[in-house]
Amino acid sequence: MRRTLFENMFGLLSAVGAVLMTAAPSAVAEDVVALRQTDMKAMATAAKTIFGMFKDPANYKAAEFQKAADTIRDRSGGVLFRHFASEVANPQSKAMPNILEERERFDRLANDLRDYAVALDAAAQNNPGPMPSGMRMKPGEAMGGGPLGTHVRSEQALSAMPAEHVFHLMLQTCTTCHVRFRTD
Ligand code: HEC
Repeated sequence: MRRTLFENMFGLLSAVGAVLMTAAPSAVAEDVVALRQTDMKAMATAAKTIFGMFKDPANYKAAEFQKAADTIRDRSGGVLFRHFASEVANPQSKAMPNILEERERFDRLANDLRDYAVALDAAAQNNPGPMPSGMRMKPGEAMGGGPLGTHVRSEQALSAMPAEHVFHLMLQTCTTCHVRFRTD
């Protein structure tokens, strides 16, 4: 009788254990996919806000611009790449498996994104009034990061650049990462 009870208990416990062991990782995997997709969508909304202000500078409001830059700052860098720390077998995810193989490249793009967001935040802080022409790209100004592609190394180089140029580098970083690491 005692043994049976023990066996039942043990059976129950290991069943619970098995459920936890199988349920936990997949729940976490779903969470991380949902989380990173939500973050990506928030960044897309923020980028759209900033885009609208460069398109028509009359829409520029430093506080909103800064808030949008901060939305991207707070979801890029390590926050972003840690959401892609391990492969998740989730049909909802469009992340490609090469993220793990090309870890450094992926992480660098995430960090570049953060650098650009930080530079945009600073531009908003430095320009609390109407958008000055210094924030805009000059006609004919070369797009992209020159020989460095989308990667601009120094904070100094970024702060010397018109914010609109930084914004273009930012959008190129989104695209570069998606082309290489996202399906479709
Ligand atoms: C370092 C790489 C990387 C960068 C940089 C990046 N993304 Fe993504 N993004 C991804 C990956 C990978 C996915 C697919 C995630 C998934 O489905 O699990 C994704 C998905 C998305 C999605 C779809 C979300 C959904 O609901 O499925 C949007 C929108 C998006 N990104 C916008 C942006 C914007 C805007 C930027 C730049 C401001 C950006 N991303 C920068 C890698 C990146």
